[in-house]
Amino acid sequence: GHGHGRGLRFTPIDPVPASTDALTVPQGWRWTPVIRWGDPLFRHSEEFDPEHQSERSQLGQFGYNCDYLDVIELDGSHGRRAVAVVNHEYTNEGIMFPPTTDPDTLAEQKRIAMAAHGLSVVELRRSGEGRPWEYVRGSHLNRRVHVQTRFTVSGPAAGHRLLRTKDDPVGRTVLGTQNNCSGGTTPWGTVLSGEENFHQYFVAAATPENARYGIPTTVSATGRNWWTVDPRFDARQPGYENEVNRFGWVVEVDPMDPDSTPVKHTALGRFKHESANVRVARDGRVVAYSGDDERFEYVYKFVSEKRMARGSSRAARAHNKTLLASGDLYVARFTGDSPAAEIDGTGTLPSDERFDGRGEWLPLVKNGRSRVPGMDVAEVLVFTRLAADRVGATKMDRPEDVQPNPVTGRVYAALTNNTNRGVGANAPADEANPRVTNREGHVLELTEDRNDPTSTRFSWNLLLVCGTPDGAGTYFGGYEGPVSPISCPDNVAFDSTGALWISTDGQPGTIGYCDALHRVTLEGRDRGKVEQFLAVPREAETCGPVVHDRDGAGTVFVCVQHPGEEGSWADQHSFFPDYAAPGSLSRGRWGGPRPSVVQVHRA
Ligand code: FEO
Ligand code: CA
Ligand code: CA
Ligand code: CA
Repeated sequence: GHGHGRGLRFTPIDPVPASTDALTVPQGWRWTPVIRWGDPLFRHSEEFDPEHQSERSQLGQFGYNCDYLDVIELDGSHGRRAVAVVNHEYTNEGIMFPPTTDPDTLAEQKRIAMAAHGLSVVELRRSGEGRPWEYVRGSHLNRRVHVQTRFTVSGPAAGHRLLRTKDDPVGRTVLGTQNNCSGGTTPWGTVLSGEENFHQYFVAAATPENARYGIPTTVSATGRNWWTVDPRFDARQPGYENEVNRFGWVVEVDPMDPDSTPVKHTALGRFKHESANVRVARDGRVVAYSGDDERFEYVYKFVSEKRMARGSSRAARAHNKTLLASGDLYVARFTGDSPAAEIDGTGTLPSDERFDGRGEWLPLVKNGRSRVPGMDVAEVLVFTRLAADRVGATKMDRPEDVQPNPVTGRVYAALTNNTNRGVGANAPADEANPRVTNREGHVLELTEDRNDPTSTRFSWNLLLVCGTPDGAGTYFGGYEGPVSPISCPDNVAFDSTGALWISTDGQPGTIGYCDALHRVTLEGRDRGKVEQFLAVPREAETCGPVVHDRDGAGTVFVCVQHPGEEGSWADQHSFFPDYAAPGSLSRGRWGGPRPSVVQVHRA
């Protein structure tokens, strides 16, 4: 449980110049990798060898570009065993593989890249509290979920004609998940993972629905072009027109049961899900919040029909794994309380000194019926963006994580940036998205009426309007003391005191610093105080923060995603985390970048 923790003690670090290829942590702390791209997961896995990878070797190894992370301690292990669940969002083939023009080699590299997507589940062990964690090769819990893994489809759109293909004429079984970005661990111990930018793997017919999701309709040389090795990703082909509708969902994986079949939940709608995070209502229904991460997209919530069963019995767990299969789906409308003329697009506070107001959850599906004129329930769930357009939801600045605070119940939405806000015919600034050409992003705090997550009305305010503290149009919760600069908020997490932790994606391109992890105080006179805990290496994004502060001095885990992303095989920009001689491979240490899970602990 959360609450009543003491929190971590650390001295904030200075922001780190963007060219620095180092993981920087506070004085008195150190970092150690937990698991790296290519580390073998199973007893018979092949060892990592970037010059001789194969689809088969990659399927037995930790995947690429880790994003969501949770580290769940196992019951009865006295803090010595845990399971890590990690998303692998995408691949950077230009720095993963030696260049080639041989068609067979290129096809195999494509298959390896596909195999490096998905999720990894891996057991961790340590010898005692305060000792670093190591992953357990060959644990019975270890699992790769990838683009060929079989998923069951749940919810009202399961079996619908829009989900049927020639490989799956009943529309209830999908092979694979991809572009899994962020996620959330449920109160019943499963992990939800968002299929985010699924469009880039497809080519499809030009339809209004495909256009609304940005699905490419022509083959581009720079595209991912998975259809070249798996024809179903060419949704122009007869029989595969609906394959594209089978991605863009929230998926649920049970990390405690490696033989379980993961599920795609249609009741939560189809869009570019950053993640999904659950809060339990007082009456036992569960509420899942989710953002659609693209410019001018929406914030959603799902309210289950059924109530959660307490306890961890096999029966309770089985019941709870059905909670996300039926319920109501809503999209958010935000209304400011200040005159529109006072929102001038610069971030200058209106005369009431707050960007704030009221909001409403607009029903898309309620009590099993569509509330959207002209669309049935399955259409609302498969083409959720079009449904939300019709009910007048508020266009937001790229909703990333939308996550309830387990201590207070308030919900925090990271709105990462939107450089098109107010540009040309695009939506103008409004009180919830108050800056035109919003490069730095902001963080919105949402309080459900009666603090009941099933409420249909809420109030909201902006906690942070990001940037450098002395920059025009930035706001740090009203806090007047020194703060760390912060830009492009992406993932959020909470520690045991209820303080907010925010990781960033994009600071190098805006404020010129390496991406970071920050703690933000929410309560009391220090509300809005931002303190930088770490910086990730050159060209990396900080992902999946997990803060364990209940034992010893505490441990902070992050995923270091896409270090050295702008380099090439011959000119690598990062050597994290092995820092071996460029291009060398010796005793498992490679002279090139490896996206990794790291732990930060007391020296
Ligand atoms: Fe994959 Fe929205 O970040
Ligand atoms: Ca106001
Ligand atoms: Ca993200
Ligand atoms: Ca992002």
